[in-house]
Amino acid sequence: MCGIVGAITRSGAVLEGLVEGLRVLEYRGYDSCGVAVVDGGAIAIRRKVGRLSELEKLLSDGALNGARAGVGHTRWATHGKPSDENAHPHSDGSGRLALVHNGIIENYLELRRELQAEGRVFTSETDTEVLSHLVGRELARGRSLADAVRAALARVSGYYAIAVLSGGDTPHLVCARQGPPLVVGATADGAYLGSDVLALLPYTRDVVYLEDGEVAELAPGSLRLTNLAGAPIARAARRIDWDAEQASKGGFAHHMLKEIHEQPDVLARTAFDRILSTRGDVAFEHGDWSDARLRSLERVQVVACGTALHAGYVARYLIESIARLPVDLDFASEFRYRDPQLARGTMALAISQSGETADTLAALRLARQLGAWPASICNVIGSTVVRESEATILTHAGPEIGVASTKAFSAQVVASFLLAVRLGRARGVLDERAGTALLDELRRLRPRMEALLASETIEQVGAIARAHQNATGFFFLGRGLNFPIALEGALKLKEISYVHAEGYAAGEMKHGPIALISPGMPIVVVNSPGRVDEKVRSNIEQVKARGGHVICVGADQPSLALADERIATPATIEALSPVLNVIPLQLFAYHHALARGCDIDKPRNLAKSVTVE
Ligand code: G6P
Repeated sequence: MCGIVGAITRSGAVLEGLVEGLRVLEYRGYDSCGVAVVDGGAIAIRRKVGRLSELEKLLSDGALNGARAGVGHTRWATHGKPSDENAHPHSDGSGRLALVHNGIIENYLELRRELQAEGRVFTSETDTEVLSHLVGRELARGRSLADAVRAALARVSGYYAIAVLSGGDTPHLVCARQGPPLVVGATADGAYLGSDVLALLPYTRDVVYLEDGEVAELAPGSLRLTNLAGAPIARAARRIDWDAEQASKGGFAHHMLKEIHEQPDVLARTAFDRILSTRGDVAFEHGDWSDARLRSLERVQVVACGTALHAGYVARYLIESIARLPVDLDFASEFRYRDPQLARGTMALAISQSGETADTLAALRLARQLGAWPASICNVIGSTVVRESEATILTHAGPEIGVASTKAFSAQVVASFLLAVRLGRARGVLDERAGTALLDELRRLRPRMEALLASETIEQVGAIARAHQNATGFFFLGRGLNFPIALEGALKLKEISYVHAEGYAAGEMKHGPIALISPGMPIVVVNSPGRVDEKVRSNIEQVKARGGHVICVGADQPSLALADERIATPATIEALSPVLNVIPLQLFAYHHALARGCDIDKPRNLAKSVTVE
């Protein structure tokens, strides 16, 4: 996740505005940043690892203060460590262009080889640099900047928002979107672009949101929208009337809702550039994830708290079934005080959004002392858990502000799936074909997640949640991979709606909790096709026989038919069903809390990061 900005004016200076734009976009990443401006016809680039203040020091000589066109970038590293060289903007060495990018170019390695064979020299480890060379090659062939951008984008597969600036007597500024957000707006004197409308609000409240596959040409006082083939697109500007607080939520009523909606993008960021399609395998950065290292493992011990622990349950099912490696799991707060005995060859796997949770950290340290190999799945680069792990899978979910975790959870589940595949391949229990099939299905998940976030589904979930807003207790039931999803659905409801909700393994109900069911009690059952789908259907029958009101979530059609109310999720393989099934449960909790007038982003008694015991 990165933030990009751009500006071009007839008479006004742009540098200060670009830096201010980066300041409001720092929430999208802040490991390095940079700007490029057209200075007397030539492109000048300044970029720096670290926070914006470091860049400001570089700019304090005032040399670029008069520039009237520029782009800027604040980075959340994916390809290549945070460094001056990997910071954006990137160029092609010609001094004619500068480019900033948010997203992932999936075929960058093959493009890089092709461009290097033509003698082009690369100076960073980023995927972005291939884009600047592709655009530069087209400019050298005499194309306009917009045509060069279109021709370059025709060669790439992936996921991007880019802005490209070219120098010369008349500077040009072009941006394009395929995936990450991009907003543009024009005033009488200028035209502006940004990853978030927040960056445009100092200039204009009339903005145009780019759709996927669109290119915008910005000039002082004008915008021209086309598709990737160059055909013009007409779209009226939208008037933004939010205040600053609303704007930081991207127009959503709450951070939690915004973060729920970000999940398809998070899937792409967590997974897509790590997939090695031709090998049915996965590549991780940050530590030794080699075959030799992973083959030396005999067990995995997951330690985590809260929502991250629920992701750990999913990890257990995935690693045991895909990689055939035994997995133990414990609340970090229990593990650290129960005198744990770890087998030789244990990977201690800490799962944490923040990387600063006191119990998780203590459990990881204890496991390390006991001889385990410390590894983690974490969202925050540079956090203590990451620093104290020998290997980490960064989830790249971006900053999560809502206290109730949503996108961090699905990213942790996706990272666990990738880990299971890597372990299975390394240990020789998953062949290339089976690995490819699993990873292909993961790629297909993104449009299915998007479908679940379509307004009809949201309205349907909202209506069901409102219908049960006065219920005093809920059960959430599931089995297998969807047992942790039931736990997570119940936790979300407890956290933000303050209603008693019990997550339970559906098969355990008959051993006691079924006594709690009274006529009309809402029972949310999560069931998708898989090895336990029939068992869960029987559990639904048992609950119905006692008068429970069953709300079924999932893709198991017979269960949906049996239920009193239903939220169908798209079909996928059993191993990935948790990623889809959790979305309606997050939305259910959200709408339930909304109907009850609760403070959704700041629920009572909770904290986002619990750094005390
Ligand atoms: C707190 C948060 C939860 C989170 C848990 C673990 O309780 O409210 O949402 O799941 O901590 O946090 P971590 O940052 O380690 O994932």
